[in-house]
Amino acid sequence: MNEHAKPATLSERADELEEAMMHALSARIATKSTLFYMADGKLQLDSGEALLAANPGKHFLMGADPRLPPMPEKPTLIDFFKARFATTAHLLQSATHALKGGQPEKVVLACLLHDIGVASFIRCDHGYWGAQMIEPYVEEEVSWAVRMHQALRFFPDPSVGYEYPQMYIKLFGADYQPEPYIVAEYQRAREHKWYMTSRLITMNDIYSFDPNAKVNLDDFVDIVGRNFRQPKEGLGLDNSSSSHMWRTLMWPTRFL
Ligand SMILES: [Fe+2]
Ligand SMILES: [Fe+2]
Repeated sequence: MNEHAKPATLSERADELEEAMMHALSARIATKSTLFYMADGKLQLDSGEALLAANPGKHFLMGADPRLPPMPEKPTLIDFFKARFATTAHLLQSATHALKGGQPEKVVLACLLHDIGVASFIRCDHGYWGAQMIEPYVEEEVSWAVRMHQALRFFPDPSVGYEYPQMYIKLFGADYQPEPYIVAEYQRAREHKWYMTSRLITMNDIYSFDPNAKVNLDDFVDIVGRNFRQPKEGLGLDNSSSSHMWRTLMWPTRFL
């Protein structure tokens, strides 16, 4: 309990209890997907029937989860930054680095979006997930660069001064070797006309988080406006090839 809080009077406590009970009664049942359980080392899927039986009179949640920050009716990419990305510091620091280095807007945008897979969704293969999420809305070069940074970051390029990140030795151990699919992807990317765009993501990737860096999402609103085709229906509600991914972020505990 917060020791600075005033002790509640009996009637205040009764009001609180009543409110909590009303909330519990009106709340719908939020469910966990198999993947969420897997993160705890469990292979589990709750039975709908069993959950209904345990929550008499309730229905499953089929939209917004009241425990998460609310999202507007027609969300934009910026709304997802604010209400669904667990952290934006790394993205903003990388994009700020690219901006200060005089990189073109498409590179700044690629840096701003390169790790949205991790920030909002999932760690494994984050470059591929992130690229797929943005693909319908950005220049192909931008999503290609985001996809390929997944592989490129493991491979040095002395011609531009990019070394294998020391932080990876700390994170993965000195003996970690990228899997064959990553090596093959790197070799393909190396020969591609957009290689340097993706390489620039890795060069602007800030591997050591600086808690004192001054970064601000507002600095990028115009660049996003010019380079990200915001759907008029709202991101996730536009039936693009990746809008289901944005909807899933919006409603992660929806029953189906
Ligand atoms: Fe990354
Ligand atoms: Fe990164």
